[in-house]
Amino acid sequence: MASNTSTSASGAIFPGEVFAQTADFDAGIRALIPRYDEMLEAIAHCLPSTATRILELGCGTGELSLKVLEICPEADLVAIDYSPRMLSYAQAKIKQVGKASRVTWIEADFGDWASGNVGLQTQKFDVCVSSLAIHHLEDAIKLKLFQRICTSLNPGGSFWNADPVLSESPAMSEIYDAAREEWAAQQGTTLTEVRAKRGTSNPQGYSNHDRLATVTAHLEMLTQAGFQTVAVPWKYYGLAVFGGFVGK
Ligand SMILES: C[S@@+](CC[C@H](N)C(=O)[O-])C[C@H]1O[C@@H](n2cnc3c(N)ncnc32)[C@H](O)[C@@H]1O
Repeated sequence: MASNTSTSASGAIFPGEVFAQTADFDAGIRALIPRYDEMLEAIAHCLPSTATRILELGCGTGELSLKVLEICPEADLVAIDYSPRMLSYAQAKIKQVGKASRVTWIEADFGDWASGNVGLQTQKFDVCVSSLAIHHLEDAIKLKLFQRICTSLNPGGSFWNADPVLSESPAMSEIYDAAREEWAAQQGTTLTEVRAKRGTSNPQGYSNHDRLATVTAHLEMLTQAGFQTVAVPWKYYGLAVFGGFVGK
């Protein structure tokens, strides 16, 4: 399903692909996003090791997929991403660690899934996870997606998302920006240097350039969507892991 090309024919990339060359993603994202691995591990630690069916939205090159498959050894994963380039990298990575048989890859827009336009409508999951993808949706679609996730979870199931969040004020925005710059310096680079490798994206399907919401707004949307318990298990400056459980 996914093509092996690392850039699109037009040179433009989809929102969320970040880098012009897909091969730059894994190293680039670790310089751009402070504590990226710790953030994904925070999601993994929220998952019950007994989960058997997991849904991932916006799997990208499969970094979270790897961690989820590791921590939930009995689980099968359904991974959705609209980018054939990212899916191609994820597929190769998971195949390399011998876990290809546990993953179903779906090339689709998760906004379409939220709207009921992708298969899977009757499928239920123990857990849904996502990282660095949902912040590309307008808030109205985020809410619709959270509602869709809520009704797709088995009783007691949970959803965990890692995303950049909107700063609470201009002063907080400066503090968060400084933390990112400091992180890049610790990695031996600068944000300017890393950002020079970014591609140019135009809106694609339901996704746009960043459409950040505050942590509080996310928790309100999750509650409105039907989640019974909502929580923020991890936060580092302008990044957060948040989600919740549906009722038993
Ligand atoms: C920044 S990457 C993050 C990938 C991975 N989750 C990670 O943390 O490394 C965001 C991914 O979300 C995908 N994406 C963004 N909007 C999407 C949408 N509406 N439907 C499906 N995939 C989407 C992009 O193609 C990209 O692969």
